[in-house]
Amino acid sequence: MNIVPMADILEDANRKNYAVGGFNINNMEFLQGIIEAAEESKSPLILQTSEGAMRYIGKDYVISMVEAATKNITIPVALHLDHGSSFAKTMECIRLGYSSVMIDGSHEPFAENIKLTRKVVEAAHSVGVTVEAELGKLGGTEDDLTVDEKDATFTKPEEVVEFVEKTGVDALAIAIGTAHGVYQGEPELDFDRLKEINEKANMPLVLHGASGVSDDDVRRAVSLGINKVNVNTDFQQVFTAKLRQLFSEDADLYDPRKYCGPGREAIKEKVKEKIEILGSKNKA
Ligand code: G3H
Ligand code: ZN
Repeated sequence: MNIVPMADILEDANRKNYAVGGFNINNMEFLQGIIEAAEESKSPLILQTSEGAMRYIGKDYVISMVEAATKNITIPVALHLDHGSSFAKTMECIRLGYSSVMIDGSHEPFAENIKLTRKVVEAAHSVGVTVEAELGKLGGTEDDLTVDEKDATFTKPEEVVEFVEKTGVDALAIAIGTAHGVYQGEPELDFDRLKEINEKANMPLVLHGASGVSDDDVRRAVSLGINKVNVNTDFQQVFTAKLRQLFSEDADLYDPRKYCGPGREAIKEKVKEKIEILGSKNKA
């Protein structure tokens, strides 16, 4: 596969103070829309699958589709497992050819999160694969993962140095007020916390739950040290909105190419907007 470790992409983003999209794929149209937008924008790209998306698409299809999608491109692309739930799942993805994995030990106590993350880092680094971990816990729902808002916890800056040193992780996902899925009200990001974490961590930081966050807040988060911004829900919403619009305009529509094609275009346009906001345009 024509893919690179995520660390290569994030190292440049960290040095030059911009962010790269960690964009989730849910089917072939998502993959095509995202790849085309990134290639036309000359932006590096992190393609990611949740475990739910892997089950839906089928792991062999993921690999074959990404192989086809990256065959004739000029931009660097990483293939990343989003919210890996166990050591076994991360190893499965590495064996399949992923260049990066997230191990999400955020539901574990601090010491257990360190232990699990360290184990994945040791195995992944021995074969040149990048690792993202999470400290603090995001609320909301993404696929199999639901965290009630009352159980969400912000990242504690005082835990950051110990976590990074003991795990050897390459990128750190933090909780500063974003949530997965659709927001009920306006998200309020704790920028002071982000600033403090960035000073302590001095490494690529990841913002999950970025759909529904205002463009200005995303820009501000990037200026304060976020180098990877995860988006899934926004793309799901524009794809579905396009299909709804087409069906409401023409109740006799039956050819999937006539609604999935425009859905793919809608994702492509949204990805281009995100790339502008993140500052990764022309960075490939
Ligand atoms: O890991 C994936 C992202 O955090 C997705 O967040 O639901 O705001 O798109 P989102
Ligand atoms: Zn996430």
